[in-house]
Amino acid sequence: MEQSKGRRVILFPLPFQGHINPMLELANILHSKGFSIAILHTNFNSLNPSTRNPNFTYHSIPVDLTETEVSFKDFTVLLSILNAKCVEPFRECLSGLLSDDVNLENPIACLISDPLFNFTRSVAESFKLPRIVLRTGGAASFAVYAAFPLLKEKGYLPISDSRLEEPVTELSPIKLKDLPMMPNCDPEDFYQLITNMTNEPKSSHGLIFNTFEDLEGQALATIRQEYYPNIPIFSLGPFHKCGPTTSSSSTSLQSQDQSCISWLNTQAPKSVAYVSFGSAARIDHAQFLEIAWGLANSGQPFLWVVRPGLVQQSELHDQALPNGFLEALNERAHIVKWAPQKEVLAHPAVGAFWTHCGWNSTLESICEGVPMICTPYFSDQMVDARFVSDVWKVGLQLEHGIERGEVERTIRRLMVEKEGEEIKERALKLMEKANLSLKEGGSSYQSLDDLVNHILSL
Ligand code: UDX
Repeated sequence: MEQSKGRRVILFPLPFQGHINPMLELANILHSKGFSIAILHTNFNSLNPSTRNPNFTYHSIPVDLTETEVSFKDFTVLLSILNAKCVEPFRECLSGLLSDDVNLENPIACLISDPLFNFTRSVAESFKLPRIVLRTGGAASFAVYAAFPLLKEKGYLPISDSRLEEPVTELSPIKLKDLPMMPNCDPEDFYQLITNMTNEPKSSHGLIFNTFEDLEGQALATIRQEYYPNIPIFSLGPFHKCGPTTSSSSTSLQSQDQSCISWLNTQAPKSVAYVSFGSAARIDHAQFLEIAWGLANSGQPFLWVVRPGLVQQSELHDQALPNGFLEALNERAHIVKWAPQKEVLAHPAVGAFWTHCGWNSTLESICEGVPMICTPYFSDQMVDARFVSDVWKVGLQLEHGIERGEVERTIRRLMVEKEGEEIKERALKLMEKANLSLKEGGSSYQSLDDLVNHILSL
């Protein structure tokens, strides 16, 4: 560990919550191994100055996004604008950091960047700076992305609405409806974005996943053998359990409502359904009402994150709810705009997590042994949800959209009825496996050692 003291690593997250969290968690892990850390961040979705780690240096990458560009509903367009506009400020910033470096005893070891930030490759190469890629999603979904050219060749892509329930035989148990897609995006643009992303690691010095062998060993083996036989692949997750314990507010773009914890303290053990669909999913008002009534009719207490922007065309959640809805439920419901999610999932009162299956949420739930109800919205979430329900069998998926009767039944099946018992047991076993992977001799523990040695060898 001592040998890495002072060696600097630069980390540059994609400026979205689900990508920032794991990148900053990785920074904490590497810092605990003796590296000094420089974080680059765009001024779009800039990191909150009051929660920054005093041990790191932060460097802002100014990108001039217009209001129209920021409000683009098409993620592929926003991403291509970011990829174009970040190039020069990134080059300048890196040049500054590298010229400071000449006077330092220990040079910068490498850059760690997101494969969706593909401009980082050419700029890093122009400075001869080694680059490692952190894929913030899971390995199983990445293996599906890597198979996109094959899926296109075999006629699965673009996805045909009339074949959604058909299996993708090459990727069992994935069905056509589980193949990653993006709402409001041109399918061809999305295909291009994904093939660019999966090509990125090929020219890098390594690929890191926030996962562990006992969870996604098969997908990791496929990725290693079939897609990236020439670069080292590291799987040292779950990151947030691997480094020094830090509060989740330190990586959050929005302030977390701590009233969640005092409300949970008043609830019976394992009685609460925690409901959150992450930072980007959007629903319409009709779906919102189905969720609200399904939760109310389930009879279980619930903690629901309704972030501004979740419900299309309705910025204020209390205006979107039926009159008197909350009053009638009394203390059985608690609604917030943003929760301290990791702390919530670790709370003994939480008995289930109704999630969109973003990779971070999925891993965080696994780490606390909390069984899931899955409603994926886009991209990797569909694959994660299929793995939760059909492979790890630690949750149930709402297979037919959101309808209040099915919501109510599913919550009761998982939280009250006998069927839920086995799912809960499996969730606890998976949690144990996650913990074991991080202990000395465990796969993630070993992979972290390998990563540290690899960075030092660059
Ligand atoms: C996005 C994509 O949706 C996801 O599929 C991809 O894997 C990563 O990028 P997001 O929608 O934000 O991520 O979901 P997720 O990956 O679950 O990340 C959300 C993060 O925000 C989690 O770390 C969670 O703990 C945190 N969070 C969420 C809060 O801190 N408070 C909340 O109220 C909700």
